Amino acid sequence: MEIIIKNDYDEMSLASADIVIKQIREKPHSSFSFIAGYTPIGLYRELVTACQHEELSFAAAKAFDLDEYVGLSPEDENSFYHFLNKHIFINCNFDQENVYLINGGAQDLEDECLKHEQLIMTTGGIDVQFLGIGQNGHIGFNEPGSSFDSVTRVIDLASKTRYANAKYFGSIEAVPYKAITVGLKTIMQARQIVLMATGEKKADIVAAALQGEITEEVPASILQRHDNLIVVLDKEAAAKLKNI
Ligand code: PGA
Repeated sequence: MEIIIKNDYDEMSLASADIVIKQIREKPHSSFSFIAGYTPIGLYRELVTACQHEELSFAAAKAFDLDEYVGLSPEDENSFYHFLNKHIFINCNFDQENVYLINGGAQDLEDECLKHEQLIMTTGGIDVQFLGIGQNGHIGFNEPGSSFDSVTRVIDLASKTRYANAKYFGSIEAVPYKAITVGLKTIMQARQIVLMATGEKKADIVAAALQGEITEEVPASILQRHDNLIVVLDKEAAAKLKNI
């Protein structure tokens, strides 16, 4: 794995954006899987700026998302669908036909999961998979205990995850109990993975995931087995890593 440690969040965001710009330069029709959350907002800001300055074009690219709350429709302001449209898709020149987002409001959730999984496979797989990490080691919404063999499915959210995300919903009661997430096996099939983390709150789990035991209790630890993993951290998130 390659670990890039930057001084602060802004530098981390720029370094992550450079990975996208380089990828598009080499393969304009690349397929990306993007994430919601605080961590990638700076990355998306950089990508939007690059698109607006015509230094970057997603015209031939494909995009997927990684997870979504069950019960939130695409119009819901707390849905990841809404988040990704707002932060990246509507401000960059994606062909909407090539943007594949999970609908958490779907009537048939099993079918929605199967469809997303199949779309990833039939369109040729993911070139660059972005990931954040939860303080409990989740990637996507693959909570501790998720099988390393898992594919896209409905999952119960860990109570730590619901509490961490309550700030967006106004109250803990309003946070959904379930989500759809792309599974760990599917994530590992991406040709390149970019794991991002910022802030001291992530330092312990980053060290456990990258240098600790590979175990389903720390879902992100599976990433140690990926042969094309780039980790982009700020100094705070990297603070507990040893011998780097
Ligand atoms: P965050 O979420 O970027 O908002 O910290 C990361 C995650 O829970 O996967």
